[in-house]
Amino acid sequence: MEIVKLNNGVEMPILGYGVYQVTPEECERCVADALSVGYRSIDTAQAYYNEESVGRAVKKSGIARDEIFITTKVWISNAGYEQAKASIDESLRKLQSDYVDLLLIHQPFNDYYGTYRAMEEAYKTGKARAIGVSNFYPDRFVDLAEFCEIKPMVNQVETHVFNQQVEPQKIMERYGTHVMSWGPFAEGRNEFFTNTILKTIGEKYGKSVAQTALRFLIQRGVIVIPKSARKERMIENFNVFDFALTNEDMQEIGGLDQKKSLFFSHYDLEMVQWLVGYK
Ligand SMILES: NC(=O)c1ccc[n+]([C@@H]2O[C@H](COP(=O)([O-])OP(=O)(O)OC[C@H]3O[C@@H](n4cnc5c(N)ncnc54)[C@H](OP(=O)(O)O)[C@@H]3O)[C@@H](O)[C@H]2O)c1
Repeated sequence: MEIVKLNNGVEMPILGYGVYQVTPEECERCVADALSVGYRSIDTAQAYYNEESVGRAVKKSGIARDEIFITTKVWISNAGYEQAKASIDESLRKLQSDYVDLLLIHQPFNDYYGTYRAMEEAYKTGKARAIGVSNFYPDRFVDLAEFCEIKPMVNQVETHVFNQQVEPQKIMERYGTHVMSWGPFAEGRNEFFTNTILKTIGEKYGKSVAQTALRFLIQRGVIVIPKSARKERMIENFNVFDFALTNEDMQEIGGLDQKKSLFFSHYDLEMVQWLVGYK
């Protein structure tokens, strides 16, 4: 497994497994399957309501805690120093662990400066080995990164072949922040899995569209956490380290970039109102 060295020296697998939209009932089995396939990084969040299942699966796996990298995120309704602090302890309880490897602010809404201060404290007291943000567009990202004490180690943003985040990645690099992709397959939108360019390039290496798309991001240094509830796809998505795309392949896939979200915009008032109301 390739690793990424975060700006505090912590090593994180460049490929992990995400559990968004995995029900609490299904999640324990999914994480157990992912661990048996070889994944050693799991991405969950308070708002996914499956931290407990992740914790149980990790515990039951018998794999040493320090061999597994766990990420969770503080939701908007838990924002602000006091509430975020309490919610971090609650996440640790659910995850059955004294620490998380990476703690993120899920969305840049509500009192996220207070949240970040609680996370900096969690970092200093050993409850989080690394901290960062998610869904921070360049404007809010720069604002926070300029004025916080501990620079975010990661910004988890929608990143896939149709929304490649090339310019935002450069901005994040100035602060030593790594891009972590959510939705590496755009959840199948825009006919992702039948895209001709990805298909044709993948065929040269005997690889699928999914594998080619992940490889593209990995070669750009982007951390990926594809989700699948199916073990055979978990295996497929894991097998992306035995081939390399050429510069020409990278350029051709680079041409698919539409530089905009296939999901939502934080500049869309209705979407923001929906997000801040979600509990
Ligand atoms: N920070 C945030 O706001 C945020 C937002 C969204 C997601 N995330 C994180 O990012 C992770 C990944 O993103 P995502 O779950 O939204 O979407 P995704 O990984 O882009 O796509 C998942 C979808 O692709 C299908 N799939 C997976 N592997 C496949 C393959 N090899 N061939 C064909 N279909 C395949 C899955 O179906 P099956 O399950 O049926 O295989 C599922 O429908 C999440 O689980 C979560 O941890 C974070």
